[in-house]
Amino acid sequence: MIEKIKDFIQEVEEFKAETAEKAEELRLRFLAKKGILNEIFAEFKAVAPEQKKEYGQKINLLKQLVEKKIAEVKEKTEELSSKPNDLDTSLPGPNINLGSHHPITMVKNEIIEIFGRLGFTVAEGQEIEDDYHNFTALNFPPEHPARDMQDTFFVETNPDILLRTHTSGGQVRVMEHQKPPIRVLVPGRVFRNEAVSARSHCIFHQVEGLYIDKNVSFADLKQTLMYFAKEFYGEKTEIRLRPSYFPFTEPSAEMDVSCSICGGKGCPICKGTGWLEILGCGMVHPNVLKNCGINPEEYSGFAFGMGIERTAMLRYGVTDIRMFFENDMKFLSRFKH
Ligand code: PHE
Repeated sequence: MIEKIKDFIQEVEEFKAETAEKAEELRLRFLAKKGILNEIFAEFKAVAPEQKKEYGQKINLLKQLVEKKIAEVKEKTEELSSKPNDLDTSLPGPNINLGSHHPITMVKNEIIEIFGRLGFTVAEGQEIEDDYHNFTALNFPPEHPARDMQDTFFVETNPDILLRTHTSGGQVRVMEHQKPPIRVLVPGRVFRNEAVSARSHCIFHQVEGLYIDKNVSFADLKQTLMYFAKEFYGEKTEIRLRPSYFPFTEPSAEMDVSCSICGGKGCPICKGTGWLEILGCGMVHPNVLKNCGINPEEYSGFAFGMGIERTAMLRYGVTDIRMFFENDMKFLSRFKH
């Protein structure tokens, strides 16, 4: 019997398994229930006690050898499957669906970039404002209709807290914390209690601009906005300032740019006028400067506020403002570069 075991040991030692099938054959032959090892164990019971030690050692050696061979093959085949040899490194990779900036973000960034060249930096306002920063400090009289429930979303339990109706409150917050000269933009979301339609939404975005220094004049305002209009809408763009009213600026104006679609000839987008209204602006009211601790005898400045949605609608030919808020993938994927 000892000779038989020695033969098996030799057989297993010489065994060269290349494939998983061959290893499985080896396993079945030796380790299966009716395999060679169990057969030998059965015979082992009849071995004389003084020979048991020698037999036992040889049987154990055989068993270990078989297990080692099987483990070796397993390792080899696993290595092969994780390194496929038919890998073609010249094949193009799978498409990765990358996201893109929202059109509102793209227009906002472009506005920031253009004013950035004139030295404007960016400040964050806050979407949840108090009455003081949204209205009172901006020289809104107590009975001003803009404070009306119809326009403003107030917090029900505290009418002093509201969702900002414009980014102009950001002007106040900047002036409270910064000494002139000030050159800052405040971009952000604003909220108005209005019916949602293709042309207006209860949420939209504005970029506020504020410039405070000694001897700032209306001519500076006009020149700054003209620079912006030409950079954003194109070299041929003309601007027009119409007198207007805001409680926080005096004098106040609304600015139109020549229609970038028809070049000023008149088209459905500009309703045949050749002009598009894009922002409100004016010289910061002395009362606002005073409210923010800036001496109006020493300093003057201008402010402007433009809607981003309107600007983006013109730039990309979007005819329904609601598209910006619906996150429709078909719409958004148009803006990938
Ligand atoms: N806050 C004004 C609006 O929402 C725009 C504006 C900003 C006008 C700054 C003048 C100066 O319509």
